Amino acid sequence: MFEGLEAAPPDPILDLKESYRADTNAGKVNLTVGVYQDDEGFTPVFRTVKLAEAQLLEDEATKAYLKIEGADEYTAAMQEMMYGLDHEVVASGRAVTAHTPGGTAALRVGGEFVKRIHAQSTVWMSDPTWPNHPSVFAAAGLKVATYPYYDEASRGLAFEAMIEAFKRVPAGDVVLLHGCCHNPTGVDPTLEQWEQIADVIAERELLPFVDLAYQGLGDGLREDTLGVLALSRPGQELMIANSLSKNFGLYRERVGALTIVARSKEAARVCLSHVKKCIRANYSNPPGHGAAIASTVLGDPNLRAEWEQEVKAMCARINEVRDGFAGGLEARTGRDFSYIRRQRGVFSYTGLTKEQVRRLRSEYSIYMLDSGRVNIAGLNRANIDSVCDAVAAVLGDGE
Ligand code: LMR
Repeated sequence: MFEGLEAAPPDPILDLKESYRADTNAGKVNLTVGVYQDDEGFTPVFRTVKLAEAQLLEDEATKAYLKIEGADEYTAAMQEMMYGLDHEVVASGRAVTAHTPGGTAALRVGGEFVKRIHAQSTVWMSDPTWPNHPSVFAAAGLKVATYPYYDEASRGLAFEAMIEAFKRVPAGDVVLLHGCCHNPTGVDPTLEQWEQIADVIAERELLPFVDLAYQGLGDGLREDTLGVLALSRPGQELMIANSLSKNFGLYRERVGALTIVARSKEAARVCLSHVKKCIRANYSNPPGHGAAIASTVLGDPNLRAEWEQEVKAMCARINEVRDGFAGGLEARTGRDFSYIRRQRGVFSYTGLTKEQVRRLRSEYSIYMLDSGRVNIAGLNRANIDSVCDAVAAVLGDGE
């Protein structure tokens, strides 16, 4: 069975990080995977996470299985984190949430749920999108297609083209949207644009599926739910995959959730029964530790307040570095890099070509995705000048 099998291609993000690790150049720079790094290049465990873990070590009474959809306190906390307690979606009970191992599993379970209830749906995703999106939905057995999103000329949103494309999507298809901090471009719709997206989605009877992997890292925890809130109109159905990898730094604990917002409480319960079937046949029930940490932090007013500050500090650093990167490139090249300042979240779409990216890798040991996407948080005081020098050099302005 295994002899002569051809190897699968490497993962464009996670395997690239492994190439970085294997590089022996002491001056190497990792701008690959979307993992926050501080100014020392570390990805620290949050202080509030450590405190919650200490508390759990004392108080945790059992390791028995969780429910298929996870613990109620965690799933309620996820709804509250996105909507607050008073929002109609939460207060009416028309949202159901299942704890999933990370945002990726939330997307996959969501995809399997759609396949189960409406197998003919196509999932429409932005061009470009996170390279794993098409793989996740294809693996769930769904057709995938793209809609225009990024406008190369303005380095902004191809808004008109996107809306026109939505008008041609058949009713009942799924439109995958990045709730904030678009991955890979960093280009997000404005509130007015979100409202227009919500209009066309409602008119065309499309099902929005929001990937909310970076809540808190764009403009703030509240501000980054603007898209979700705009879509959550009375009676509107939607799905949300959220992740605590980034805003709790719980990457390897795999903590996220799938939320389904139905028209009524009854319909939501029925949806959850199907979601549970998808989960049971896949990983049975979720891993406990990361969610217990999140519930502990979010359930304790002091820890919660401190965690909010930790997220705020991360967000502020990202936006400072963004400004420094744009300024560094402008100073060296005389060109306009203000689009880097306008982008949001950990990613910046630099506009570098694949050839330039490959040169940066082979000649300078600076690792970024072939698409020209960089993880802004990988830049720090020690490496930002050399990265700006190298980028200017490959652009032909710094030699
Ligand atoms: C990324 O795009 O770098 C992150 O979402 C991490 C991942 O799993 O790819």
